[in-house]
Amino acid sequence: MLVSATEMLKKAHEGHYAVAQFNINNLEWTKSVLKACEEMQSPVILGVSEGAAKYMCGFKTVAAMVKEIHDKMGITVPVALHLDHGTYEGAKACIEAGFTSVMFDGSHYSIEENIEKSKEIIAYAHSKGISVECEVGGIGGEEDGVTSMGEVADPEECRKINELGVDFLAAGIGNIHGKYPANWAGLNFEALAKIQAVTNGRPLVLHGGSGIPKDQILKAISLGVSKINVNTELQLEFAAATRKYIEEGKDLQGKGYDPRKLLAPGAEAIVNKCKLMVEEFGSAHKA
Ligand code: 13P
Repeated sequence: MLVSATEMLKKAHEGHYAVAQFNINNLEWTKSVLKACEEMQSPVILGVSEGAAKYMCGFKTVAAMVKEIHDKMGITVPVALHLDHGTYEGAKACIEAGFTSVMFDGSHYSIEENIEKSKEIIAYAHSKGISVECEVGGIGGEEDGVTSMGEVADPEECRKINELGVDFLAAGIGNIHGKYPANWAGLNFEALAKIQAVTNGRPLVLHGGSGIPKDQILKAISLGVSKINVNTELQLEFAAATRKYIEEGKDLQGKGYDPRKLLAPGAEAIVNKCKLMVEEFGSAHKA
C-alpha cells in the first residue's frame, strides 16, 4: 500500500537523513526507482509533475500504474506518490485520484493568497490522510538562456505557512531546477538556518537536488532538510546509457531494437544512480 510522506519525513528529520523524491516520467522510471529503493531498503517518494502526469495520460492513470507496479513487484519499503509543484486545481485532482501526498506550489501568488489556498488544500488533504508540501520563495532555473538564481524565501513567510500545519515545506535557498551553472553561488545556508529556526523542526524540502556537491547536501540535511527532489540527474543518466547503446550499434545486433532491450541500459542506469543517491542522503536501511 502506498503511504503518505508524513511519517517517513518525520523519522528522517529526527534521524538526520533525507528521503529522496525521485520524479518518474514513465513505466520504466517507476520500476527502476522502486527496484533501487527496495534493494537499498530505503523509503522513497515518487514525484510526478503535472506535465509528466499529462504525458502519462492523467493523474488517475499514474495512480493506477504506480499502485499496480508497487504491488506486483512486492515492494515492502514505504512509498509515497506525490504531486510535484501542483497547481490548486491539480492538487485537488490528485487528492481525488489516489495520490498519497501533494505539493501545492503557491509561491508565485502573494503571500496572502498563498496562505489562503495552502490552508484549503491542507484541510482537504488531511481529511483524507494525505500529506502536503507548500512552497515559499522561488526555485531558480534556466529558461531561454536566462539564468535566475530564484528567490530566497522570507523566514517570516515560512513561519506563516508553517503555522497552517503543512507537513513539509519547500523554501527557496538559491537552489535551481535543472543543471547548475558553473558560476552558481551555492546553497544559502544562512537563510536555511533562519527558516528552520522559525518553523519548529518542520521537515524542509530541497528542490533541484541534481548536481549539488555532497558537502552541501550533507550540510543542508544537518540544517533540517529531510526531502531532496531529483529529476534531471536521472534523465541525464538514462539518456547517456541509451546513447551509448545506440552508438555502439547494439540496436542493430540481433533483436537489439526490441524496446525491452533498447531501454534496458537506461533503466539500469537509473537503478544505479538512485542507489548512490539514497546512500548519500543517508536513507539506506531506514525503511
Ligand atoms: P532537478 O530536476 O534539478 O533534479 O529538480 C527536481 C525537482 O526539484 C523537482 O521538484
